[in-house]
Amino acid sequence: MAARSAPCPPAEPAPLDCSFVENEELPSDFLADIRRLARSYLESSDPRLQSGFGGGPARWRTEREPILDAVETDGTLLDLGCANGFLLECLRAWGAERGLALVPFGLDLSAELIEVARQRLPEFGSNFYVGNAWSWSPPHRFGYVYSLADVVPLTHLGSYLSRLRREFLEPHGRLIVGSYGSLSRKVPPLNIEQLLPSYGLPLTGAATAGPGGIVRFAWAESAAV
Ligand SMILES: C[S@@+](CC[C@H](N)C(=O)[O-])C[C@H]1O[C@@H](n2cnc3c(N)ncnc32)[C@H](O)[C@@H]1O
Repeated sequence: MAARSAPCPPAEPAPLDCSFVENEELPSDFLADIRRLARSYLESSDPRLQSGFGGGPARWRTEREPILDAVETDGTLLDLGCANGFLLECLRAWGAERGLALVPFGLDLSAELIEVARQRLPEFGSNFYVGNAWSWSPPHRFGYVYSLADVVPLTHLGSYLSRLRREFLEPHGRLIVGSYGSLSRKVPPLNIEQLLPSYGLPLTGAATAGPGGIVRFAWAESAAV
C-alpha cells in the first residue's frame, strides 16, 4: 500500500485561504480538475450550486435523501468531499425528521469551501477539516462515512474504499458510497452496487434515485463487526 501523509490540518477553524492540500499520490491533473470545480462552486451563493448540484431544491432532496436509507441509528456522519457542508446540514435535518440524531463531520480539499461549511454549521465548526480523502488520517472513527466514488480516480477506488472501511469506521459502522451521473452530459452513474463486491466489500444495501436512476448509492458494513 502507498505511504500515507501525516494527518491534515486543524481541528480548529483556520483563516480563510485559497490553498489546497497537496498530495503527490493522486495525479496532478485529477487534483487540478477538483481545484477548478471547487472554485466554480464558490462563484454562486446558492448552497446547492456550492455543492456542485444544479438541479434545484426538489431534485436535491430526491437525489440526496436516499443516503439516509443506510442510516439506522444515531451517530457521527462524515462526508468526504463535503464542499460547503450543505449536504451534511440537510442530512442532519432530514434525519431529525426520522428521529435520528446525527453529528456532522466533513473533509474537503478546498480550504475556502471548508470555511463556508464552518460558517454554515458553526456549532460543529471544529468537525470540519481540510485534507485529501485519499491520504487523510481521521482523528477518530465514525458511525457513518459517506464518500462519492469520484473523489479519487477509478484506478484508486478499490484501495480507497477498502481503507475507509478498515480505518474510518466504528465497529458496526457503515461505509456509504455514492455516484452521481449527469443528465445534461448524458453520463450515467457508476454501478456502485456491483463495484463494492468486486473490491471485496460485502454489499449491505443499495438505492437509486432521480430521473432514470441518475444517482446511485450502495453501502457496506465495517470490517470490524
Ligand atoms: C460534488 S461535491 C459533493 C458535495 C456533497 N458531498 C454531495 O455529495 O452533495 C464534491 C466535493 O468533493 C471535494 N473533493 C473531491 N475530491 C476530493 C478529495 N480527494 N479529497 C477531499 N475532497 C475532495 C471537492 O472539492 C468538492 O467540494
